[in-house]
This record gives sequence, C-alpha cells and structure tokens, in this order.
Amino acid sequence: MRQSSLVVVANRLPLDDNAAPDGACEWRRSPGGLAGALHAILEQAPATWVGWAGGVGPAPTLTDIGGLRLRPVSLSRDELRGYYEGFANSTLWPLYHDAVQQPVFDRNWWETYRSVNARFAEAAAEVAEHGGVVWVQDYHLQLVPQMLRELRPDLLIGFFMHVPFPPPELYMQLPRRVELLRGMLGADLVGFQREQAAHNVAQLATKLLGAHATDDAITVDGRTVRTGAFPVSIDVAEMRALASRPDVLRRSEQLRHDLGQPKRVLLSVDRLDYTKGIEHRLTAYSELLRAGHVKVRDTVLVQVAVPSRERVESYQDLRDRIEGEVGRINGEFGRVGEPAIHYLNQPFARSQLAALYRTADVMVVTPLRDGMNLVAKEFVAAREDGGGALVLSEFAGAAAELPQAFLVNPHDVDGLKDTLLRAMSADPADLAARMTAMRDHLAGHDIQTWARAYLTALDHTGSLAERLAGDRAPAASVAWHR
Ligand code: ADP
Ligand code: F6P
Repeated sequence: MRQSSLVVVANRLPLDDNAAPDGACEWRRSPGGLAGALHAILEQAPATWVGWAGGVGPAPTLTDIGGLRLRPVSLSRDELRGYYEGFANSTLWPLYHDAVQQPVFDRNWWETYRSVNARFAEAAAEVAEHGGVVWVQDYHLQLVPQMLRELRPDLLIGFFMHVPFPPPELYMQLPRRVELLRGMLGADLVGFQREQAAHNVAQLATKLLGAHATDDAITVDGRTVRTGAFPVSIDVAEMRALASRPDVLRRSEQLRHDLGQPKRVLLSVDRLDYTKGIEHRLTAYSELLRAGHVKVRDTVLVQVAVPSRERVESYQDLRDRIEGEVGRINGEFGRVGEPAIHYLNQPFARSQLAALYRTADVMVVTPLRDGMNLVAKEFVAAREDGGGALVLSEFAGAAAELPQAFLVNPHDVDGLKDTLLRAMSADPADLAARMTAMRDHLAGHDIQTWARAYLTALDHTGSLAERLAGDRAPAASVAWHR
C-alpha cells in the first residue's frame, strides 16, 4: 500500500459516477462546494484523497489525478441510507442549518454512522505515512478525528467543518451530542467558516465535557485542541480565466438572445436544497410580478437548481413544491414563448456556469443559512467587466466577506422584494464600485490562501503548506467537464 504525507478524508471523492444515457459509467466532478474547493488545491498535489465514489457496492478502481491518489471507500445500500441520507443529511444537516427543516432523530441510523466513520478512519490510517498529516472534512465524518487518533497517535490531524456549527441551544437537541463533540475534538486543529462557530463549540465543550475552553483553544482530557475561523474560497484564477474565454462570452451573448433580450436577467444557482431559500425567493418574485413592479417582457429569472440528495424524502418534497410553484408562476404570468421563470434542474459544465454568471444583471443568492456559499464568490470572480449586482443573504458565510453586496434577510419577503428592486435599478457606477471592492477582496482570499492559512496553522513549521504550493506533480490526467 503506497502511503502519503498528506491525506484528505471527505465523504465524497472529487469524482462522481453518473450513469450516462447509454448505461455506461461517466465520471464527473462531484457536485457541491467542498469537492470543488479541495479539488482546486489538490489536483496536482502529492496527496491521497479518501472518499466515497458516489455509488453502492464494491469500491471502483480509480486512477490517480495528476499527483493525487484516490482511495475509494465503499458503501452498501443500507449504509448509504443510514449514514449519508439518514444521520448526515436528515439529522445533522438540518440541525446545523438552524433547523430550517425539522431534523429527524432516528436511533437506527447512529450505529451505521459510527461504523462508516470507523471505515473512513481505517482507510486514512492505512494510507497515511508515519508522522503525516490527515485533514478530515465536514459533518459526515465528525467521529473520524478521535477514531484516527486512537489508531494512529503519530499523525497530525486536522478537521474542517464546511457547514455552520449551530448555537448550543440547537446542538443540545442532538441525542449523540457528547460522542459527536468528542469525535471532532480528536483533531489537533478544528476549523470553521465563521468565528461564531468556534465560540459555540467552546461553550459546548465547557458545558458537555467540562473542558477549559476559549474561542481559540479547548483543553479536554489533558490535550489541547486549537480552533479558529478559516473562510473557504474558490479558485479565483480559474473562474476569471473561464469567464473571459471568447467562447464563454459568445455563449453568454447567445443566452441573452435566447432569453428574448430582456432588460434584466436575474439568476440563481443552487443545489436543490431547502437551506437555499428557493421557495422564499419564488414568493418574492411572484409578488413583484403580481404588483407589476416586474414585467415578464422586461425581466426574466433563471433558476438553476441542480438535483441533490434525491432519495431523501424532504428533498423530493421540496422539488415537488418548487416545481409546482414555478409552474404556477409561469401559468399565471408567462406568455407564449416568454416564461416568467426559466427553471433548469440539471448539472452544468463549469464553462456554462461561467457564461450564466456573465449574463446575469442581478445574481440572487439568498440561502436561509449557508456555511459559506461559493456560488456568490464564483459570480464575483466571473465579473471581470465590473458589471452585475449581487443580492446576498446575511445568513451565508460569504456575507461577512462581501459587505458590498446587497445584503438581505431572506426570511423577510418584503425586505427581499425591496432589495431585489434596489439591485435591479442601481446606478451602474455604484454597482461597479461594489464589484471592484468585492473582487479586490477575493483576489487576496482565494482557495490557495485558505488552504495555506489552515495548513500553516495546523503544521506550525509551514513545510506542509510549502509542499502543497511548490512540489507540484505534472498536470492532471483526467479530462474534467469544463
Ligand atoms: P453547497 O456546498 O451547499 O453545494 P456552494 O454554493 O458552496 O453550496 O457550492 C455549490 C457548488 O456547486 C459551486 O461550486 C457551484 O458552481 C456548483 N454548482 C451549482 N449548481 C451547479 C450545476 N447546476 N451544475 C454544476 N455545478 C453546480
Ligand atoms: O458542505 C456542504 C456539503 O455537504 C458538501 O459536503 C458538499 O459540497 C455539498 O454539500 C454537496 O452535498 P452532497 O455531497 O450531499 O451532494
């Protein structure tokens, strides 16, 4: 077994096996922010990525991507149900997102979550070099740091939570709250998107574990675990380059033409998830149409909602509700050949997303709660032309970094309507000034900055961060869908 000095452990590998229309297996970039962010820094790094390849049954054999080795972890159908769809995405996910949807507490899921976490820990222990670094990601694998420490005390272990970490009064609802907290605190450094999360964990560690805790260090069972905020970002250079490619600009012009050359294009791009605030947004938009503040001939809304967690009941219900609502709005306000909303429930290549970002006059990113929201950052990076307005939820992690956006409380439908109208009618000079400030911020805070900041904090010598930046293997051998 080949071993690596850096091992990343995440629920998903950066590849997802999709059944092609002819039944053949087609590998694509995995959906969601985490895979995109990590893939950008590891694509050419000499590291191993431990994760699930997206199907059920025996793990597939995967070839390396450049210097990055892939170590798949298999899941059975029952494990997929109990670990991924159940405990991770029906208990932790809604609870960690302010319980905007009622979390399900099913006692049968816990044992599967625990045993799958143990499998990930064992796989990481197998591929990590002596004294190496293992970086564990997200709520799916919250028990892995402690399990791994028991298996391999020689390792330096990091944990990063991509989603929000809830306030104590919500976390306290969790039936397995002590085990989950202890599991995460098995790491040497626990990173979050926002400082508030580190504060929440410190309070919980004091209350539940009797630890001595501040907002940047927790001492428990004689060990000190450091904590801190490391806001994740995107590959700014990649998005910039993509969005200024001539074919992407031509595609953007074509899109505007296909949309009927409206005065304004509003765009939303989300995973189809109840945390993303899609229903609140549709309500606001339909009320603007009804009041005549927005006219179908002048303005279109393009809602991209990529399918996500499709076997989970609450996601199926959400899809039915959204599609019913889009149909109702188009039925009531659309005209022949002129729908009020263009709804696209499909994955897109990165270049197509870039073309959409370039087409939008107003980008509407209004999650009810979001760890970061990389779509907001992608939009800003794509707007080399300085055009476009960003309407951004106060409840997205990105709001703390992009205060020049039109910030909004998405629960307040009237406030959302006003903000949309303000963004639609803003002075181009004001928009350009806002965009310049946001672009300047992103230029200094890209995905490389994030990885360097986290890994330098984890490994004080700085050699790990240096190795990632400098010791690059030849370019990736997998042709990504771009
Ligand atoms: P989350 O991690 O909750 O999915 P983020 O906004 O942080 O939310 O990340 C979403 C990622 O998924 C972004 O990188 C975005 O470009 C990508 N994405 C969103 N919609 C699509 C789509 N229809 N096709 C392909 N990628 C998409
Ligand atoms: O951090 C949010 C997250 O769960 C990530 O792990 C992933 O990027 C995204 O949502 C997509 O979710 P899933 O892996 O369940 O499709």
